[in-house]
Amino acid sequence: MPKKKMIHDFYKMKAEGQKVTWLTAYDFPTAQFAEAAGLDMLLVGDSLGMCVYGYPGTVPVTMDQCIVHCEAVRRGAPNTFVMGDMPFLSYQVSDEQAVANAGRFLKEADVDAIKLEGGVRVASRIKAITEAGITVCGHIGLTPQSSGLLGGHKAQGRTVESAKLVVQDALAVQGAGARLLLVEAVPPEVTKYIAETLEIPVYSIGAGPDCDGQLLIVSDLIGQFQAFTPKFVKKYCNVAQVVTEAMKEYVKEVREGTFPTMDHCYTMIAGEQEKFLKEV
Ligand code: KIV
Repeated sequence: MPKKKMIHDFYKMKAEGQKVTWLTAYDFPTAQFAEAAGLDMLLVGDSLGMCVYGYPGTVPVTMDQCIVHCEAVRRGAPNTFVMGDMPFLSYQVSDEQAVANAGRFLKEADVDAIKLEGGVRVASRIKAITEAGITVCGHIGLTPQSSGLLGGHKAQGRTVESAKLVVQDALAVQGAGARLLLVEAVPPEVTKYIAETLEIPVYSIGAGPDCDGQLLIVSDLIGQFQAFTPKFVKKYCNVAQVVTEAMKEYVKEVREGTFPTMDHCYTMIAGEQEKFLKEV
């Protein structure tokens, strides 16, 4: 069993040019698969709203839902760095509420870090949570919880003006004390500049290869999420197809009477059948 990686390992990996491998996970079996596959880090993302609950976005997700899924992932991957994702309105209202909710992830679900969205505008939240002794990962670029303000789920940093705002956010996140940064849907040139400029490890989801590691949503990677597929996704298998085919086969066999067979049955102990039939 490989040793669980901790925050100092991610700094060492950045210094040595080793990429961090990071996926989302929302449940116990997926966390087990991820740990067996050797992932460095897992995010219990608020994307669970879409991937698990079928909501149209992440806004309806609650703290209680996030905690329950973090607990399951922690149990499935006890030797992997697990990060909880702060849902919409769990940190926007005040520094005090942000610290209290971030603390719940550690106290109730034993996660290693929390992530929240935003740069300059959440700097005081990052500072307050960090000062409470909690490891924070920033998340800038396309931030799904505030996609309305960004004009939809759109890539950020594609013009000089927009790229400069993304860089300002990155500097604000590091300056406020975050120990890790995730950049979403930003051109690779901008991400490369940020990763080279910042001391903290910088990871990408849809922000190109030139940084310290990659994140993907597990439901995209395994071909389970059906609603839409962002440009940056690579599907490594098609679970939706495999599972639907298996279910169709089951339906067919039950209907035609070829499942179950005696191989799937518990037989009566020798001699019991005759006695049973006599007594009933
Ligand atoms: O919730 C999540 O999975 C995320 C990713 C989109 C980065 O925050």
